[in-house]
Amino acid sequence: MAFVSFILSALLLQFSLGCNALEILDNNHNNVVKLKEDPDNDPSVHVFFKVTDLYQGKRMPLYFESDNDSAPMHLLSRPQADSIPFSLSKLPSLLEFFQFSNTSIKAQAMETTLRQCESKPKGDEFKRCVTSLEAMLDMTQEFFGSVKPKVLTTKILSSNHTLYQNYTLVEKPLEVNRSEMVACHSVAYPYLVYYCHGHKGHMTRIFKLALRGDNNERIESISVCHKDTSMWDADHVVFRLLGGYPGSGPACHVIPIDNLVWVA
Ligand SMILES: *[C@@H]1O[C@H](CO)[C@@H](O)[C@H](O)[C@H]1NC(C)=O
Ligand SMILES: *[C@@H]1O[C@H](CO)[C@@H](O)[C@H](O)[C@H]1NC(C)=O
Ligand SMILES: *[C@@H]1O[C@H](CO)[C@@H](O)[C@H](O)[C@H]1NC(C)=O
Ligand SMILES: *[C@@H]1O[C@H](CO)[C@@H](O)[C@H](O)[C@H]1NC(C)=O
Ligand SMILES: *[C@@H]1O[C@H](CO)[C@@H](O)[C@H](O)[C@H]1NC(C)=O
Repeated sequence: MAFVSFILSALLLQFSLGCNALEILDNNHNNVVKLKEDPDNDPSVHVFFKVTDLYQGKRMPLYFESDNDSAPMHLLSRPQADSIPFSLSKLPSLLEFFQFSNTSIKAQAMETTLRQCESKPKGDEFKRCVTSLEAMLDMTQEFFGSVKPKVLTTKILSSNHTLYQNYTLVEKPLEVNRSEMVACHSVAYPYLVYYCHGHKGHMTRIFKLALRGDNNERIESISVCHKDTSMWDADHVVFRLLGGYPGSGPACHVIPIDNLVWVA
């Protein structure tokens, strides 16, 4: 393995184990993992709501992953990223390089990530795994063409963040004009990798929510409503939380803090 040495600095970064809720959202499009999360015992699944909940004054329990305990991670540059193979077929040598036992949880997470990244998109779904900033920009160009996209993120505006509590919508939800979007979230890997997916066509509505927690903390949350849930798994936790069934109506969720939502 002739990976260049500056990559070792990436190893100083924490192994990112991704976020439960993100994996749940992923399952909308990939039946990689069956959902077993129990809404009663796992607050992180409380990211969903109905489109009819979007009015000023609505109060609902929501979970926002905090990113305070992870080292700030940056995408590698393309030369750095290209010096490390990113392929399931190279997993044994990658495990050797990163010195992960092939039965470890980290090894399993790497395998899951690589499998997800190499799986074929379903229908008209657009998906890419990006390992560098340049690849991220190429990806947006491929999706949006000559239109310059902008990026939206959920922001915690207070320092006293509580992971899970009731939040009140303190302003009328603001619908973002363009609904064509690509959402990117980090996946479990030894360095920062974004899994990005989106759809051509107007399958989603995007809202900016001004939220105030019961402890008065403020969050500006980007939220996405999926108009069509007919392809979602019947076991999806969203149906246990909100009722309904695949195709029974739109479902919305808040965008976790480390996600990037690209819109035209
Ligand atoms: C960081 O997040 C953890 C929960 O993940 C929380 O217990 C802790 O108080 C937070 N620390 C700060 C400084 O916000
Ligand atoms: C795991 O690694 C050991 C050596 O470290 C090797 O003998 C074994 O075949 C590997 N197992 C798999 C499933 O790759
Ligand atoms: C949390 O922070 C907000 C300001 O950002 C403040 O108004 C509120 O009192 C704080 N809540 C607690 C419980 O400290
Ligand atoms: C949210 O508020 C409801 C009703 O006031 C309460 O039953 C519930 O326990 C609260 N949830 C959280 C996470 O605080
Ligand atoms: C939406 O876009 C149209 C045309 O692009 C513009 O005229 C309108 O003001 C926009 N509305 C909002 C709420 O941004």
